[in-house]
Amino acid sequence: MHFYLEPGGKLVGSIRVPGDKSMSHRVIMLGAIAEGKTDVSGFLEGEDALSTLGAFRNMGVMISEPESGRLSIEGVGLRGLQAPTGIMDVGNSGTSIRLMAGLLAGQTFSSVLTGDQSLLRRPMARVITPLSQMGAVISSREGCPPLEISGGRKLRGVHYELPVASAQVKSSVLLAGLFAEGFTSVVEPAPTRDHTERMLTGFGYAVEVESGSIGLEGGGTLQGTRVDIPADISSAAFFMVGASIAEGSDLVLEHVGINPTRDGVIRILKAMGADIESSNERDVGGEPVADLRIRSAPLRGIDIPVEEVPLAIDELPAILIAAACAEGVTVLRGAEELRVKESDRIASMAEGLTQLGISNTVHADGITVIGGDIGGGVIATHHDHRIAMSFAMAALRASDRIKVSDCAHVATSFPGFAELAARVGLRLDVADT
Ligand code: S3P
Repeated sequence: MHFYLEPGGKLVGSIRVPGDKSMSHRVIMLGAIAEGKTDVSGFLEGEDALSTLGAFRNMGVMISEPESGRLSIEGVGLRGLQAPTGIMDVGNSGTSIRLMAGLLAGQTFSSVLTGDQSLLRRPMARVITPLSQMGAVISSREGCPPLEISGGRKLRGVHYELPVASAQVKSSVLLAGLFAEGFTSVVEPAPTRDHTERMLTGFGYAVEVESGSIGLEGGGTLQGTRVDIPADISSAAFFMVGASIAEGSDLVLEHVGINPTRDGVIRILKAMGADIESSNERDVGGEPVADLRIRSAPLRGIDIPVEEVPLAIDELPAILIAAACAEGVTVLRGAEELRVKESDRIASMAEGLTQLGISNTVHADGITVIGGDIGGGVIATHHDHRIAMSFAMAALRASDRIKVSDCAHVATSFPGFAELAARVGLRLDVADT
């Protein structure tokens, strides 16, 4: 499946993008091991979150069929998961495999987690190392999936200092900590998304957060609850960039999660000159939410502050499209983590930008982009959803047609992207040839 884009256009209207992916994974996991029922709204019915949902059904958890983002989970309690029937395939989803590795490490039964070609290349040593220190036994294929997790291991709490700023690793260790004896704590080198901590608290589980350290005592109880998941700021980011770069745009993004560990994209785009207005700010189940109005504005290149990188990690591909349309030079450094996402996102973005005539220089840990005139061309997505959606937005400022090849993976995080984008003005067609 490919995207075919006519150049030009503007984004106008008011839309709500689908639910937050990180929270959708977590609500299934925590709802499954809670006591009693959890009712969810705003659930992301994308392939990644559905992979997590399928895996927990496979372990005996009753989860209703999602309907317009609503579902319910019949929690089985901390010790109630059953051995899965066969290998659990979580597709493209790094969040599923890394968080579930932690959650499964302390079970009485053994399990095997695998995924698609992209996931089979992604590094898992970052979770295997701390989980092994806790007493888990996990084998991998040279640090990559499949992961074979041995059952019946007694876990003990550890104090772990994360070598990389990763919410997936933090969450994996904390989820293992629920099943461990004693106290488990994690120290982050820089703040990362804190949905696990917030949601655990929402499920009534005590979490201690103190100057970069997050900890919990094992063996407690989670209570089923109601969770309303806001729209995903990572999906909203493509539209923030699109509306900023396309002259005449005026777009409202409704009910967007603006958790301060996720909103780096707003600060970075504003520093570049973007006109983003936040209104109706409110708290929804422990997560801050707002409506965002974006009007087109001339952008200028900046040095992206290194401390913002973990707070905008999934939005950096879209931000680099803004950089391509900005006056002057944008420098991104300290972003080596981009190399181990669904594709090597530094290489994928550099290749695509070059294809469209935008000068750039690649660094081991980032990229420098010189703003200029965007041409047409064919973009290889490397089967990476965020690369596909970022380059789709580039068409708004292109002088010629753009074909974005192999876009099927967009459904992992943003089902309905093409239709929604076309509805507000992106000149996008989808075809198989
Ligand atoms: C996620 C954390 C981030 C992010 C990913 C989702 C999460 O990964 O890139 O899309 O839900 O915890 P890292 O923890 O590897 O930075």
